[in-house]
Amino acid sequence: MSAAIIDGKKIAADIRGELAVQVSELKKRGIVPGLGVILVGDDPASKSYVTAKEQACHDIGIFSDDNRLPSSTTQEQLMTLVRKMNADPRIHGILVQLPLPKHLNESEVLLAIDPDKDVDGFHPTNVGRMVIGEKAFLPCTPHGVVQMLARSGVVMEGAHVVIVGRSNIVGKPLANMLMAKGRNANATVTVCHTRTKDIGSFTRQADIVIAAAGRPNTVTADMIRDGAVVIDVGVNRVEDASRKQGFRLVGDVDFEACKSKASMITPVPGGVGPMTITMLLFNTVESARRFAHLPE
Ligand code: GUN
Repeated sequence: MSAAIIDGKKIAADIRGELAVQVSELKKRGIVPGLGVILVGDDPASKSYVTAKEQACHDIGIFSDDNRLPSSTTQEQLMTLVRKMNADPRIHGILVQLPLPKHLNESEVLLAIDPDKDVDGFHPTNVGRMVIGEKAFLPCTPHGVVQMLARSGVVMEGAHVVIVGRSNIVGKPLANMLMAKGRNANATVTVCHTRTKDIGSFTRQADIVIAAAGRPNTVTADMIRDGAVVIDVGVNRVEDASRKQGFRLVGDVDFEACKSKASMITPVPGGVGPMTITMLLFNTVESARRFAHLPE
């Protein structure tokens, strides 16, 4: 079998098209959705993510308030900026790009963001609401994975999903979202991680394998069953002298080998990546609608 490629760029473009329509309708009512963006320091990967997020906002008509701060920024300066954005009516969503430089207290910053503007879904209030099945901003990467599966016709209800990785940004929220009661959920979920004995013995039982470990070749062909759906959340830079930038991006999955065994698979790049940014736009538009008391 050669797997169907799940085209994240295409699905992302479809959703962005739907969001652009919503943004223009909001603008007719005098509402411009706004995203406050904070990047501290000069980590190259973070810089390129933030630039892509702001470009995506621009493309669909979302206002973005760009704040690039030096790595010498103090905790108090950062907290002051977050509080200013909390109070700014032009801003419906706040994005603090992670990771922050080591001297800054990340959890204190995330806690300072107004949960009603927490479009990353990282505030403990939104995390808690998601876990108990209440309305919440869902974190962008796992939300994007669920949308990708749903829009590719993959049935999650009753499926055995094995997630490799237990991060706060992907593995843990994804497990909660997929095991929840409701649409695009109701799955049986297993979470594997670095201390799991024989990860393959779990992934081989999966209808859907989701790799979110942050390490190339974490999922190899011998670890999946014939016909499994394979989602690769990994974005790893590996040195490649033949590329202008000196590196190329690879996922966590041995794509070439798994492609001939899986029924559907996501590539890297062009898979989950474009969905993450798209769901940030989705949450920002949703937030603007909520602030305007419009139906979602
Ligand atoms: N760093 C890596 N992924 C993310 C994300 O989704 N949001 C933020 N704020 N930082 C990140």
